[in-house]
Amino acid sequence: VNDFVAEVERPALGGGIAHAPDGRVAFVRDALVGERVTVRVTDEARRFVRGEAVAVARPAPGRVAPPCPYAGPGRCGGCDLQHADGPSARAWKEAVVREQMSRIAGLEVEVELRDAPSGARGSRTRLRCAVDPSGRLGLRRRRSHEVEVLATCWLADARLAPAFARRWDGAGEVELRAIGPSEPFAVVTGADGAARPCALDGSDRPAAASRVEAAGHDFLVSPASFWQSHRDAPGVLGSVVRRLAAPHAGDRVVDLYSGVGLLAAAVARDVGPRGRVVCVESSPSALGDARVNLADTPWTDVRAARVTLAAVDAAVARDSIVLADPPRAGLGEGVAEAIGRSRPRRVVYVSCDAPTLARDLRKFLAAGFDLMALEAYDFFPETEHVELVAVLDATTRAGG
Ligand SMILES: C[S@@+](CC[C@H](N)C(=O)[O-])C[C@H]1O[C@@H](n2cnc3c(N)ncnc32)[C@H](O)[C@@H]1O
Repeated sequence: VNDFVAEVERPALGGGIAHAPDGRVAFVRDALVGERVTVRVTDEARRFVRGEAVAVARPAPGRVAPPCPYAGPGRCGGCDLQHADGPSARAWKEAVVREQMSRIAGLEVEVELRDAPSGARGSRTRLRCAVDPSGRLGLRRRRSHEVEVLATCWLADARLAPAFARRWDGAGEVELRAIGPSEPFAVVTGADGAARPCALDGSDRPAAASRVEAAGHDFLVSPASFWQSHRDAPGVLGSVVRRLAAPHAGDRVVDLYSGVGLLAAAVARDVGPRGRVVCVESSPSALGDARVNLADTPWTDVRAARVTLAAVDAAVARDSIVLADPPRAGLGEGVAEAIGRSRPRRVVYVSCDAPTLARDLRKFLAAGFDLMALEAYDFFPETEHVELVAVLDATTRAGG
């Protein structure tokens, strides 16, 4: 399809919705609602096209010049909303979540996006970078394997800047980490798939694990363990989950996909020695860290297991509290149903992906749970993504 001019009607994941001249839906990036833009088509399917706004004939009042020089049509795929001011980006993200909840979960909910305490610039403490054929670091262009080589990333912690100034010959992927006050380092994945930590200047001096404080706890985070990418996310999520789970002394709490124990640590003291916190996690690195991080609350039980039906049946008891913070793909097959059958009194579900959260919420509603709260946090500034925390309580009607 040739370039065409269209008006952007409403926000959606993957770009604002417009219509191509042949009637197909068009998902248009780099545009805001109400704008009249020239769309360059980047992908085509039978029922829709994807494109980018390469010229804006009628800008929306919320349009700004992107603060990052690498943002825009055909450029870095890391950010989607650099062209939107704060209120427009917020309205866009809230509308996307509302739409996903309505269409996928059948839930009509109001969503109010809460800002992270720090500003967006430099807020990412963990950044997965691609390497171009000449060894330079960058991020993939949108929907492309091409690498946008960067002199630095606007969103990344400034201490990571030296990594962009050197070559990473032979590396397949480089993850940069500036977690807590520990010295920043890189985790380099070679062509053979093996990952090894190294200093940002390329020396092989093995990087120590990170040590970081969040929500009043100290955490050890080894180079291969998951840690939230936004500087504020661990602290905020720890206190939000503690408030929403509201555990009592003596409760049983099950933390599924527990990582290094961030959420388990947030509730362990409330539960106390008469209670129990069971973590279920599959990464050996995260499991090792969790055992260290939770050592001062010996009523925590860190289990090496994939979150499956059987693991849920073994861990979740009637009237317990379940915390679940799965990767982007959401809960594994049959896991929501298995949790539902075990009849915990509350499920606190932390998600970085609205579509899979909505899919899983639908299953919990069908299993006799009510959505009590849905909170949204802006831990992915300048992008279309948000962090969501949903609270589900077992209804008294279902399950006996
Ligand atoms: C989004 S992270 C959340 C970790 C922790 N709640 C945090 O905020 O730091 C998801 C975790 O799930 C783990 N994981 C992924 N798939 C899993 C599975 N099928 N079973 C168990 N753990 C899994 C990953 O290793 C990762 O530590």
